[in-house]
Amino acid sequence: MRVIEVAGSRPSRIVVGERLEAVRRYLPPGARVVVVTDENVAAAHRDRFPDAPLLRIGTGEGAKTLDTVRELYHRLMGLEADRSTFLLGIGGGVVCDVAGYVASTFLRGLRFGFAATTLLAQVDASVGGKNGVNLEGYKNIVGTFNQPEFVLCDPEVLRTLPAAELVNGMAEIVKHALIADADLMGYLETHAAGALALDPAVIETLVCESVAIKAAVVGRDEREQGERRKLNFGHTLGHAVERTLGVAHGAAVSVGMAFAAALSVRKGLLSAEEHERILRLMRALRLPGSAAVDCERLKEAVGRDKKRAAAQVHFVLLEGIGRAVVADIPLTELREMIGSFPGIVGTEGAGEAV
Ligand SMILES: NC(=O)c1ccc[n+]([C@@H]2O[C@H](COP(=O)([O-])OP(=O)(O)OC[C@H]3O[C@@H](n4cnc5c(N)ncnc54)[C@H](O)[C@@H]3O)[C@@H](O)[C@H]2O)c1
Repeated sequence: MRVIEVAGSRPSRIVVGERLEAVRRYLPPGARVVVVTDENVAAAHRDRFPDAPLLRIGTGEGAKTLDTVRELYHRLMGLEADRSTFLLGIGGGVVCDVAGYVASTFLRGLRFGFAATTLLAQVDASVGGKNGVNLEGYKNIVGTFNQPEFVLCDPEVLRTLPAAELVNGMAEIVKHALIADADLMGYLETHAAGALALDPAVIETLVCESVAIKAAVVGRDEREQGERRKLNFGHTLGHAVERTLGVAHGAAVSVGMAFAAALSVRKGLLSAEEHERILRLMRALRLPGSAAVDCERLKEAVGRDKKRAAAQVHFVLLEGIGRAVVADIPLTELREMIGSFPGIVGTEGAGEAV
């Protein structure tokens, strides 16, 4: 078991390799605990939850709404929750984002913590203090910055996770290696098979290293004024691919990372050998490097990213494996690059990550 301290306006601890049933030990003594989870997580792991009132939300992105938040407020009122109430989110990124937002806003703030049950939540969503919900088709447009007191990551709970969900976490681990840790890249290259097989020792290492990278970045820039933008590596095109094709976030980000790596080569920042190494690793981890997608729709979608600043995009490039740099790239250049990127292989009507 390893513990990583996350600096920030409120300190947060990420505990990796602890069993889910041990979460009781991390709850504040005397607190009135309420658990928030979703149907799938409850079905798979309910018997390992602490003995506390259980609030279930629906599953998937569709549950990340203000309606769900309102429902949880009502349920908390019904339980006569007060400032001594501790909200424990047990689930993936959706549960963590919703539970974190409800905890941050109900009674102007309850104490809260998470047990993260997807690989994505363990390496990304539960770290860094962002929480919130979607509104009218815009992702994460309502929310707060607020760190959970702890995040418990049990590699064993990932065994019940549908295989398709693993891609989402794996893509973020690769992202963390590429932007900040050449050693992690080397580890991934030698342990790709173990990672795919969910070898607990490999997963524990990958989660720890990933969390340490994200925690360090967030510690330096909690509110995304600069450094934290590096975490968006692969996400500018990735979000556009996700929106255009409706594929899984991880698959879309993988295509976005391949694109950002190619652009880094074009800018003379990354060597052709490093680029090939990245694509090889992505293949070993079964992450797509290309997408069959209507190029024009994709170009259109890139311009609609909410993180876009005027006609320039804060775009994350690599100046070598393990070193990211944020550059302002004109939208026109980005769109032109999409047209010539070999990883976009589609024509009108095309639609999948390959
Ligand atoms: N706050 C952040 O910094 C941050 C960062 C990245 C992503 N996110 C958010 O995270 C969300 C995606 O998170 P996710 O990929 O974890 O999706 P998710 O929470 O929807 O979980 C994926 C699916 O797996 C099921 N599930 C979860 N754990 C399980 C388990 N152990 N066994 C069986 N089934 C299980 C869930 O019910 C769901 O159907 C998005 O809404 C995204 O915006 C937030």
